[in-house]
Amino acid sequence: MMTWSNLNFQNSASPLMEQIIFFHDHTLIILIMITILVGYIMSSLFLNKFNNRFLLENQLIELIWTIIPAITLIFIALPSLKLLYLLDELNNPLITLKTIGHQWYWSYEYSDFKNIEFDSYMIQQEDSQQKNFRLLDVDNHVIIPMNNQIRILITASDVIHSWTIPSLGVKVDANPGRLNQTSFFINRPGLFFGQCSEICGTNHSFMPIMIESISLKKFINWINNYSSLGDWK
Ligand code: CUA
Repeated sequence: MMTWSNLNFQNSASPLMEQIIFFHDHTLIILIMITILVGYIMSSLFLNKFNNRFLLENQLIELIWTIIPAITLIFIALPSLKLLYLLDELNNPLITLKTIGHQWYWSYEYSDFKNIEFDSYMIQQEDSQQKNFRLLDVDNHVIIPMNNQIRILITASDVIHSWTIPSLGVKVDANPGRLNQTSFFINRPGLFFGQCSEICGTNHSFMPIMIESISLKKFINWINNYSSLGDWK
């Protein structure tokens, strides 16, 4: 989860986020090399006394400084495209989770089993006796079995929201009247946090997402016990 003065990405909890971080690092290295080179050239322009008063054109240098950036861009564009198509890939998901954005909370439906559905509201610090994750904790977690492909269908009931979980590399807009699809694969157990990231009204900051990644066995157990508890809280 996000903590104080963390300027980098959160640790990845899915293979796709790992790939996104690799791509970020790759692009950043190219960016740093360009910045250093251009910075050096610019500073050396100020610090020398050379001039070339009769220079009008130089086809060769124009050619060099056109082709080199073009090649550099290809080195960014190809991995970027690979990642783009990889993120869209959906292979044989185990379950489908429906996510509906509301002003200002999320609701979830697991319709593969018994039409489990619930709302997920942020817990206010004052409401709770226990210590919780301030502005990130919700009353009903999204329970997900780890090491399985999960499909999510995302929509909204009022305005545009965005279902965003940085550690899983998921960021999909929830549009009223549209159904968006994405998928993820969580490769470790734990709690993973997200927030709405589409400015959706006064309480935009207060509709967090909390994913609880557990083993498949525990997940089946949760499904089985859900109906007996009735309205599970
Ligand atoms: Cu929902 Cu911002």
